[in-house]
Formats: sequence, structure tokens, C-alpha cells
Amino acid sequence: ATTDPYIAAIPKVELHVHIEGIISADLKWKFSQRNGQAIINPRTNQPFASLDELRDSHDTLKPRTGSRMDNTEETLSFFEAYYGGFEVLKTQQDYFDLAMDYYEHAAAMNVRYAEIFFDPQGHTRVGTTWETMMCGFRDAWLKAARDLHVASKWIMCFLRDESPESAMQHYEAALPYRDMIVGIGLDSNEVGRPPSLFDDVFARARSDGFRITAHCDVGTSYPLEHIRQVISSIAGTGADRIDHGLNAASDAELMHLIKQKGLGMTICPWSYIRHQPLDEVFQRIRALHDAGVMIAVASDDPAFMEDTWVLENLLVLKKYCGFGNEEMRRLAENAIQMCWASDDAKEDML
Ligand code: ADE
Ligand code: ZN
Repeated sequence: ATTDPYIAAIPKVELHVHIEGIISADLKWKFSQRNGQAIINPRTNQPFASLDELRDSHDTLKPRTGSRMDNTEETLSFFEAYYGGFEVLKTQQDYFDLAMDYYEHAAAMNVRYAEIFFDPQGHTRVGTTWETMMCGFRDAWLKAARDLHVASKWIMCFLRDESPESAMQHYEAALPYRDMIVGIGLDSNEVGRPPSLFDDVFARARSDGFRITAHCDVGTSYPLEHIRQVISSIAGTGADRIDHGLNAASDAELMHLIKQKGLGMTICPWSYIRHQPLDEVFQRIRALHDAGVMIAVASDDPAFMEDTWVLENLLVLKKYCGFGNEEMRRLAENAIQMCWASDDAKEDML
């Protein structure tokens, strides 16, 4: 519940949300019950006996506020929880319901347009077919636009801890669905996995007309060199946006480059304050904004934070950056400017 009707009422564009990042314990339980498939507790190898037990496990695997997720164990436990969610999705109906869950939240927060990440490799490696996944997403995509007035496109992310060959295979397999897909991204565990490993597939995607973005995670485990590659070299001349990239706030040259190229950054405050000191996070976000870098606020993985969606991310940023309504409105306009919808579609977002 919000106590800020002004922020609630702003028409919103959300550019950084993983569809798999909304898989809560409750959704997992719903799908597993419906499909008659037990969920195995990775810590005991026994099936979870109740929703409460599953909720407890989900909560303990989430990153904890105040801890630093530069700590490898916490990062791995986040990914363990996150990829565990993929295993409960079995049918086209599951994929449809998952996407509708996002779209219903979006409609309630006055989100008019979203670009939604999905990780196809995480689904195919547990045996899901492209058809099951994409037909479920497609039906929800059409229904949301028609009945909820939430327009959207999808961004296919490659898992950077999988091989470049796997990325290329998935790229080719996605082409029949390209009417839904506006861009290509890069996510998952960044340690030791520079964007340059994926140069070939990004260059191909760019020449086929897709937009390009990549995650640069926040914390001391993630080198500035990865941000540099995203700005200047992936897909030939660099990406069209940066996801996160908050480490750049400590490097004047990188900030200058980002501004010069007009790259927007998607910023997800709840993702950072789960594992970085709060003051530092908001000082850095402010530094980017004050330097004239275009930032757009988004939710990343709501089910792995504190059930925090784009609205809660806007509210926490408003509070700790000390922004007034005018600045919050400017952030919403940034997101419209940064999005990859047609100019006509952008007109309808205001
Ligand atoms: N995939 C989903 N959430 C992610 C995150 N926070 N970092 C990297 N990859 C992700
Ligand atoms: Zn993300």
C-alpha cells in the first residue's frame, strides 16, 4: 500500500524486470500443486511438505539487507533460489499465468509499457520447449495489451555463465518469435564472464535489428572493465542501454562516456540495498542523476527482495535521494525516452 498518491498515479514505463524474478514461493506452490509435481528442498533433498516450509526456504535463500553480496556464498544462494523457480514451470498455462501475474501487478501500478526480460536457456535446460514457453507468454502479452492496457515487449537475455555457443543456438531458436522480442540482454552470474565473450552473438543481433543491453552488477566483484565493454565495444559500437552499472558512479571517465553516448541506465534500488550499504547506494544513484546521466527506475526481481515492485523502488529512491515530485516525474520521462517502443507508441505512454 502506498501513501504517495502522486507517485502511484504517474504513468510508468518499466525497463528492467525478470519474468522469472517474480516467481514467489506462493506461485511455485500453485504451479507445483496443479502439476502434481513435488518441489525438492535442495538443502535436504526431500520434498517441501507445505507452503509455509517453502516460504521459509525462499526467504532464507534471498539476499539479506545489510550484507554485502560481493560475498560469493550470498550470490550463489540467490542464483540457487532464482533458478529453482524455473523448475516448477511445466505447461503453457504456467507461462501464461506467470506473465499475467506480472501484467496484473503492472496495471495496478499504472505501468503503461514494459520491456520484460526472460532467460530462455534456464527453461530449455530443464526440458521446456520454446513453444510451451513462448505461446504462454504470447497469449498473456496479447491479453495484457487488450484487457489491461499494459503494452510490452520482451528482452531475451543470455546466461553469461553458459557458453557463447549456447547463446547463439538460443538466438536462432528465438527468431520465429521476434515480433515479441525487441532486444537482447546479458544476465546471470557475472564473475569471470566479461561481455566480450558474447561479441559474436551481439553483433549478429545488432545487424538483425535488435536493441542491445547488458547487466553490469553492483559491488566489488564486478570490474569496471565490464562496464567499459558494454559502453564501447559489444555489438561493435557498444550497447543501447546498461542494466545496473552503478559501479560507474565512482569513475569520472566512465560517467562521461555514458553521458556522451546518451546511454540510459536501469536502476533497481531494492536489488542493491539488499546487499550493499544503503547510504552508498543512494549517494551513487544521486551522483549519476546529478551528473546528467539518464536513469530509469525498475524492480529487477520483486519476489527475491521484499515483494518490492517498480512502485516500491520509486518510493525508496524518492525517500533516500531526497527527490521531489518534479524529479520523480523526470525519472518517469527518462524511462519513456530510454524505451525501445516506436515514437507513436511513446506518445500514448504519457
Ligand atoms: N538474473 C536475474 N536477476 C539477476 C541479477 N540480479 N543479476 C544477474 N542476473 C540476474
Ligand atoms: Zn536484472
